Amino acid sequence: MNILIPYYSRSGHTERLALTLAARLRSLGHCVALEKISVQSVRSKWRLALPLLSTLPVLPLYLWNTSFRRWWLQRYPQAQQSIQALSYPDVSSFDRICIGGPKWLYIAYPVARYLEQVQGLAGKPVGAFATFCGPPLAIFELEMLFTPLRQRIERKRAHLISTLAISSHFHEFFFFNEMEYVFRLISRLAFKKSLSSYMLESPWGEREVQLFCTALCAPSLPKSANL
Ligand SMILES: Cc1cc2nc3c(=O)[nH]c(=O)nc-3n(C[C@H](O)[C@H](O)[C@H](O)COP(=O)(O)O)c2cc1C
Repeated sequence: MNILIPYYSRSGHTERLALTLAARLRSLGHCVALEKISVQSVRSKWRLALPLLSTLPVLPLYLWNTSFRRWWLQRYPQAQQSIQALSYPDVSSFDRICIGGPKWLYIAYPVARYLEQVQGLAGKPVGAFATFCGPPLAIFELEMLFTPLRQRIERKRAHLISTLAISSHFHEFFFFNEMEYVFRLISRLAFKKSLSSYMLESPWGEREVQLFCTALCAPSLPKSANL
C-alpha cells in the first residue's frame, strides 16, 4: 500500500511516533511517505494558550454531562494556525492517510489547518495518531481529540478507521512543566499505573502501535474499527 503520514510536532514527541509508525509500516512491506507540517511562524507557548482560555470555563460541565459534551464538540471554537506549503497538497494517489499531531486540549491548530487545506481526501481510509502528556483518559484526552478530528475527516468525505494515542510524559505548561506532575498524579489515581506505562517504549505502547498499524492496513474497511 501507498501510505502518507502527514504530521505536526512542536517539541518532537509526535515526530518520534510518526517515524516509529513509518518504520513499522515499511517493515510490513508498505511504501511510506512523510509530510512534516510546518507552521509559518512559531508561537510562544503563552500565545498558544490564548485561544483555549475562553473554552476553559465549560470544562467542568464538559466532563460531567454527556449531552453537553456531544453538543460542545460540534460547536467549540477550534483555532487554526497558518502552515507552510505542503509537499503533498493532494493526497488522492495514496491508499491510506495517517494524520498525526499533539493534543492541544482539542486538535492542534496546524493540524486543523492541514485538514482544511488538504485536497483529495474524499473516500480515503484515514488513521489518526497523537501524543499528549496524560494517560489515555477516555473523555478528557481521547474523546476530546478524536471526536472533532473524526468530524473534520468526515466533512472531507473520508473515514477514520484507526486511532492511536500515546503519552509523551511531557507538558511545557506552566512555568516548570508543572502540568506533567498533575498528569502523573491523575495516572496513579485513575489507572493505578505510572504515566510511563503509557509511553511509546512501554509494552502497552508497543501493543497500541501494532494494533493501530494492523487496523490501518486491514483490507476490509469497517467504518469505525479500533475507535
Ligand atoms: C497549547 C497546548 C495544549 C495542550 N493540551 C494538552 C491536553 O489537553 N492534554 C495533555 O495531556 N497534554 C496537552 N498538551 C501537551 C502536549 O500534547 C504534549 O506535550 C505533546 O506530546 C507534545 O507533542 P510534540 O512534542 O509533538 O509537540 C498541550 C500542549 C500545549 C502546547
